[in-house]
Amino acid sequence: MRFIKTKDYEDMSRKAANIIGAQIILKPTSVLGLATGSTPVTTYANLVKGYQNGDLDFSRISSVNLDEYKGLTRDNEQSYYYFMNHHLFKHVNIDPAKTYLPDGTEPDANKACQDYEEAIFATGGVDLQLLGIGHNGHIGFNEPSDNFADKTFCVDLAESTIKANQRFFASYEDVPKQAYTMGIGTIMAASKILILASGKDKAAIIKEAFFGPVTPAVQASILQFHPNVTIVGDEAAFAECEEIF
Ligand code: F6R
Repeated sequence: MRFIKTKDYEDMSRKAANIIGAQIILKPTSVLGLATGSTPVTTYANLVKGYQNGDLDFSRISSVNLDEYKGLTRDNEQSYYYFMNHHLFKHVNIDPAKTYLPDGTEPDANKACQDYEEAIFATGGVDLQLLGIGHNGHIGFNEPSDNFADKTFCVDLAESTIKANQRFFASYEDVPKQAYTMGIGTIMAASKILILASGKDKAAIIKEAFFGPVTPAVQASILQFHPNVTIVGDEAAFAECEEIF
């Protein structure tokens, strides 16, 4: 694993966008695996700048997102489709037909998950997967468990995740309790993985996930077994990993 410590969130976001930008420049037909959440917001803003200043061309890029809430339509402001469109897709020249997320409106979970695996397979596979990490070590919505899920599946969100996401909704009742998420096997199939982490509230889980034992109780820990992982974190997120720098 490669660890890159940055001064702060802004610095993390610039460096992350540079890494993703380099991927786009080196392979203009890249399949990017994308994440939502607070962490990548400014990374996406920097990618938009890269497009606006002529450095980055998204016209032959495809994207697959990690997850989507079950039951939310694309025009719901809390859906991950809406998030991606708002922060990235509508600002760059990516072909909307080549931006994939699980279909949150598909009530048949088996169908939604199988369709999504097929869509990912049809892209030819993810070149670079961007990840954030939950306080409980989740990646995508792979919550602490006694096993690692292989393929895309319908997950019951952990109570802590529902509470963490409540900040985006009017009330607890409004937060979806289920989501469709790539499985750990789907995530691990990406050629390269880029994890972002910012803030002191991520310090404990960064240490546990990447310096502790590999266990499904901390799903991100499996990334220790991936051959090409880069973690870009700010000083606060790496506060408990002083020994490696
Ligand atoms: C987002 C996702 C989640 C987030 C994680 C961290 O698509 O799948 O795993 O990456 O919950 O969220 P933030 O960045 O809000 O701390």
